[in-house]
Amino acid sequence: MRWLVCLLHFLFFTLQYQPAFFYFSQTNHLCSPEQTSALLQFKHMFTINGSASWLCDQYGHLSYPKTMSWNETTTDCCSWDGIKCDRMTGQVIALDLSCSQLYGTILPNNSLFSLRHLQRLNLAFNDFTQSRISPSFGQLSSLTHLNLSSSFSGSIPSEISHLSKLVSLDLFSYYQLVKLEPYNFHVLLQNLTQLQYLCLARVNISSIVPISLMNLSSLTYLDLEQTGLQEKLSNKIFHLPNLEALNLGYNPYVNWASSVSLSMLRLTGTAFSGGVPDSIGYLNFSGQVSSIFSNPEQLFYLDISYNRLEGQIPNIANLSKVAYFTLITAILGLPIWLYNLPSLKYLSLASNEFTGQIYEFQSKSLNHINLRHNKLQGLIPPFPTIINLFLSKNTFTGEIPSTICNVSFLEILDFSHNSLSGVIPQCLANFSNVLSVLDLRMNNFHGNIPSTFTEGKKLRNIDLNGNQLEGRVPRSLATCRHLEVLDIGNNKINDTFPYWLEFLPEL
Ligand SMILES: *[C@@H]1O[C@H](CO)[C@@H](O)[C@H](O)[C@H]1NC(C)=O
Ligand SMILES: *[C@@H]1O[C@H](CO)[C@@H](O)[C@H](O)[C@H]1NC(C)=O
Ligand SMILES: *[C@@H]1O[C@H](CO)[C@@H](O)[C@H](O)[C@H]1NC(C)=O
Ligand SMILES: *[C@@H]1O[C@H](CO)[C@@H](O)[C@H](O)[C@H]1NC(C)=O
Ligand SMILES: *[C@@H]1O[C@H](CO)[C@@H](O)[C@H](O)[C@H]1NC(C)=O
Ligand SMILES: *[C@@H]1O[C@H](CO)[C@@H](O)[C@H](O)[C@H]1NC(C)=O
Ligand SMILES: *[C@@H]1O[C@H](CO)[C@@H](O)[C@H](O)[C@H]1NC(C)=O
Repeated sequence: MRWLVCLLHFLFFTLQYQPAFFYFSQTNHLCSPEQTSALLQFKHMFTINGSASWLCDQYGHLSYPKTMSWNETTTDCCSWDGIKCDRMTGQVIALDLSCSQLYGTILPNNSLFSLRHLQRLNLAFNDFTQSRISPSFGQLSSLTHLNLSSSFSGSIPSEISHLSKLVSLDLFSYYQLVKLEPYNFHVLLQNLTQLQYLCLARVNISSIVPISLMNLSSLTYLDLEQTGLQEKLSNKIFHLPNLEALNLGYNPYVNWASSVSLSMLRLTGTAFSGGVPDSIGYLNFSGQVSSIFSNPEQLFYLDISYNRLEGQIPNIANLSKVAYFTLITAILGLPIWLYNLPSLKYLSLASNEFTGQIYEFQSKSLNHINLRHNKLQGLIPPFPTIINLFLSKNTFTGEIPSTICNVSFLEILDFSHNSLSGVIPQCLANFSNVLSVLDLRMNNFHGNIPSTFTEGKKLRNIDLNGNQLEGRVPRSLATCRHLEVLDIGNNKINDTFPYWLEFLPEL
């Protein structure tokens, strides 16, 4: 029988690979010996070191040593991991060695720089931080995509400006080890006119004049988070004709007067103060409400947390696409138009001074609400599509709305530190297949703990501390196998020690 399996195996693979086989037999363009040798030389410049790529975990990427599989015995380097060749010429046109655990230095005479046909090069998240970004990168003049994210240190050389075909340049520096001097920045911007994506996050550009960014008229994505920008940004930056996304987060001195039409705006931790946007007009910094939005129809992501905002958020009801809205540490009134945003999916207004009652939101896709730590009061309205609901540290009163029983995807319910009363709806105990956190700590709930918890795969945390609950601890909790926290202290529970809880493996 074994030979038959082998035969089938053989037929299957030969048939499957036939087109490629014919292709190569016709064109006969495999990796050239020069390229093979350059790549192997490159490989031998580094040691493999897991901690060189530890950041990959942090950003949800798998790290593994791609060059380990590069091997003299398989001479066609086009088949090696991380390498892509031009099918017609056999030239290496793309090299992706991100997260490859490479540790060492890249000197100007590195064999990498002989791969002149490279169009895409990704060396992100390795550790070459003993070397600066070599001027030799400027020789790879076919590059359209260059990603050196968090791998190098030192000044960015002016030679990068020779790469005039670049469409995407990622120089993110997690450790803040990279710097861009004004002159180099200037020449860079003059030549890289094709750039659509530019990330300089955590690169020290404190001494540059941002107005020069205006040369980059093709930019659609600009990330200048935590770059130490000093200058007041010119209005003009927002008039980059194709800009869609802008991140100016964590630049404590950034401030501007402008109107924008973007689809994504992150201003978290800037000195953006005064009022937030009205439909049209200009922002000024004395605390007057005015505008940064000239085309709010496009905006879908708005994060203006950690600023010094005050006053009312004016009507920007035309933010019809906004799905993600965050605002933290501002002194504001909860604006009525928020309730009418049709696409709102994520709303975080935690740690503000919002007062008054809240109402039912119109959005049919609202999954996440965080209104923690405000001064909201009154009854809790229905949230028919909610998944994560954080209303803790307010002064809500009344009972848990019975409509909560109709919500099918509830995962986190945090009503702790309010003045809620009444009994805990039994339905919450039936949710234990989806519900993972039930936090009702520090309220005035009375009556019994729901008696029948259905067998739960998800329920991790039940906190009922500081209420007026009485009766016994429901035995059915023993079926919630993943329970990690059960706090029922400071109630009027009258029970013996629930010895049966000992059998819960994760408690
Ligand atoms: C491995 O990399 C880490 C940081 O990337 C470095 O501190 C350490 O010295 C390296 N270990 C070796 C054996 O090269
Ligand atoms: C190359 O591959 C062959 C066969 O897979 C293996 O025996 C050899 O050890 C490899 N060489 C290196 C340097 O990895
Ligand atoms: C590259 O340059 C370094 C330092 O300048 C030198 O030590 C090394 O031998 C050179 N390597 C090659 C392959 O020329
Ligand atoms: C650069 O590579 C890193 C790691 O793979 C990735 O997270 C990042 O998105 C890349 N940048 C660009 C612009 O593609
Ligand atoms: C701009 O790019 C061209 C073509 O790549 C190059 O010849 C020139 O030196 C570059 N200019 C600067 C200032 O780098
Ligand atoms: C950025 O560079 C400036 C001047 O070159 C320097 O004074 C400053 O300390 C640097 N900032 C950081 C965070 O390294
Ligand atoms: C919303 O857009 C409509 C049509 O584009 C416009 O007439 C209206 O004034 C806008 N409302 C606000 C508050 O900007």
